[in-house]
Amino acid sequence: MSLNIVIDCDPGHDDAVAILLANKLANLKSITTVAGNTDLANTTKNALALVEFLGADIPVHSGADQALAGAVRNARHVHGKTGFGGTNLPAAKRPVASEDAVNHIIEQVKAIDDLWLVAVGPLTNIALAIEAYPAMANRLAGLSIMGGSTGPGNATPAAEFNIWADPEAARAVLTSGLNPIICGLNLTQQFLSDDDFVEVLATADQPVPGFVAELYRYMHDRMDAIIGERRAALHDPCAVLVVTHPHLFELTDMYVDVELTGELSRGMTLFDQRRTLARTPPNCRVATKIDADKSRSLVLTTLLDYSSSSSS
Ligand code: BDR
Ligand code: CA
Repeated sequence: MSLNIVIDCDPGHDDAVAILLANKLANLKSITTVAGNTDLANTTKNALALVEFLGADIPVHSGADQALAGAVRNARHVHGKTGFGGTNLPAAKRPVASEDAVNHIIEQVKAIDDLWLVAVGPLTNIALAIEAYPAMANRLAGLSIMGGSTGPGNATPAAEFNIWADPEAARAVLTSGLNPIICGLNLTQQFLSDDDFVEVLATADQPVPGFVAELYRYMHDRMDAIIGERRAALHDPCAVLVVTHPHLFELTDMYVDVELTGELSRGMTLFDQRRTLARTPPNCRVATKIDADKSRSLVLTTLLDYSSSSSS
C-alpha cells in the first residue's frame, strides 16, 4: 500500500469513520489530536480507545488544547460530552506517544516521502507545524482538509465548525501556499448516512461495524433533535476518500480565504467562485462533487471488512 497518511483529528463520530477508512484504504502512519468536538483530553482518549479497539499499532500524539487566539470551542451538542456519544469503548491502556503533535507532524513530513496530511478538526496543529516548518510544501504529497462551506455554515449561519473553532489557524493554512484540497459542507452534505446505513452495519453483528452503528444511531438522534432529520453528513470521511479514491470527486481550483473580524461572520470561508479576484491565483483545490452512491458502497464495504479479526 503506497499512500501514507497522518490524520489530524478531534474524534468525534465522523472522525472515527475517517480513521477506520484510512486504516484500511491507506497506510495510516499516526494520528494527531486537537481540541474541537470536545476537549483535547477527550479527543485524545477517543483516538487511543479506537486504535486499541482495533488492536492496531498506530501511535497517537496529542496537540493543541485551544485555538491560536485562545478560544476553546466544542460541538458537544452534536457529538456528546465525551465526543463519542452513544458508545462505550473501553478506555485504552496505552498512553499517548507524545504530547507534541506539532513536532511529530514535522518529523513525519521530513521522514516520509510523499506523505498526505488529512486534517479533519480545527487547523491549530497544522498551522503551528507550517509556521515552524514553512518548507513543508516541498515535502508533502498533499494536505486534505474537511472544513468551510461555499454556502451556509453549521456552527453559525456563516461558519463551518472546524474553521469557526480556529479561524486564525484556518487562514494561515489556506493561504500558506500548500494548495490544500478542501472538502466543505457543500461537498459533505452530498454524502449522508441514514438509518439503512446503520442497519447494514448493525446486521453484521461484529465489533467494529457495530461500534459505527452505535455512533450513527446516536448521531441520527442528535440530528433529528437539531434539524428534524434522521441523517448526518459523513464529513470527515470525504477528506480521506478524496485522497484514496480521487476519481469519486470533482475538484475546482479556487481562491479561498477566511473572515476573521466580522461581527456575524467570523470563521466564514470565502470561496471566489466567480473569480471576482481574477488577479489572485487559486490557493486551494475545492471538492465540489462526490459520487455519493459509489462512496457509500465503498465506506460500507470497508467498514464491513473489519468483520474479519485483523485490524488492517
Ligand atoms: C466538522 O465538524 C465536526 O463536528 C465534524 O467532526 C467535522 O469535522 C463538520 O463541520
Ligand atoms: Ca472532525
